[in-house]
Amino acid sequence: MTILGIETSCDETSAAVVQEGRLSSNVTTTQLLHAQYGGVVPELASRDHQRRIVPIVADALKKAGVTTRQLDGVAAVYGPGLVGSILVGLSFGKSMALGLGIPFVGIDHIEAHVLSNLLEDLKPSFPFINLTVSGGHTQLVLVRGPLDYQLLGQTKDDAAGEAFDKVAKMLGLGYPGGPVVDTLAAEGDPAFVNFPRPHLEEGSLDFSFSGLKTSVLYYLRKIGFSAGAARVKWVNPKAYDGFVADICASFQAAVVDVLIEKALSAARRFNVKDIAVAGGVAANSELRRRITAAVKDLGQRVFIPKFEFCTDNGAMVAMAGYLKLKAGKTSSLELTAEPSLELT
Ligand code: KG4
Ligand code: ZN
Repeated sequence: MTILGIETSCDETSAAVVQEGRLSSNVTTTQLLHAQYGGVVPELASRDHQRRIVPIVADALKKAGVTTRQLDGVAAVYGPGLVGSILVGLSFGKSMALGLGIPFVGIDHIEAHVLSNLLEDLKPSFPFINLTVSGGHTQLVLVRGPLDYQLLGQTKDDAAGEAFDKVAKMLGLGYPGGPVVDTLAAEGDPAFVNFPRPHLEEGSLDFSFSGLKTSVLYYLRKIGFSAGAARVKWVNPKAYDGFVADICASFQAAVVDVLIEKALSAARRFNVKDIAVAGGVAANSELRRRITAAVKDLGQRVFIPKFEFCTDNGAMVAMAGYLKLKAGKTSSLELTAEPSLELT
């Protein structure tokens, strides 16, 4: 079974081919044009997807060595995400399926992230706990089978990636902030400021990052830091460079502490050995390092996809499409974008 997967829900245009459950190609471009605006501009994003979708799909097919005639199905994301962006990939995917006379499968973007760990040779065994940490979502899911999920907890306000992006903005580090904070944090002191670790009520598997983000904001205000200022009003002006790195490290340590603590707690509660991490924030080096060390100590296993499968990609969509088609699940060509789609 050969499936084409298309992802256009935010600012990555990506297409991939999965054959018999194995990835044959994955081609992704990230729209860099948003950096100058400090965040994704929806109208610009959808126009850019329109420009790129044809060459990206052609490239993914070429790299996989398959023609459109060899496809058994087309999968595309129908939510959640930016409506104008989703519509580009979704309409393209539906049209292709209609033209080729093959099934179409609409994919939940978050479900695709959950399945991204199945792209690797070494896969988690069912049931496993999946921690999805992206720019729009922070969720803990019990994955009982390939298409069988139980939502255990999610963020009540900001997503983890969103908090990274907002703190980066406060520090004048540009967008997207996660990768920059990650890089700078490696040079900083995680104990420089003891930012709060929001755990919510006892036993809760939900998350909240808005208070932590506000703590960083108040801290920066208190010491007179302004991202626009030529230099920080800091007691020791020589500490300027190191200061930003220390804040990044302290903030990142707080986020990582909470993510790991909740993921391990979910694994304990459901007596699960394998933990998988997915989504853009799964690219974070401190999260990768510390969760790997933590599970090793406990005799558990952690699975984190390769970087290209952490951030948005067509490969996870093609894998989700493959599993759905194999289970006989197809979508109507009437399916439209659902920007606020929730994992069920
Ligand atoms: O999954 P993704 O590509 O798109 C969404 O579905 O949201 O995730 C993007 C998010 C952004 O917030 C970005 O700042 C964050 O992932 N991110 C990171 C890192 N790389 C990307 N956050 C922390 N550390 C990173 N290395
Ligand atoms: Zn995503």
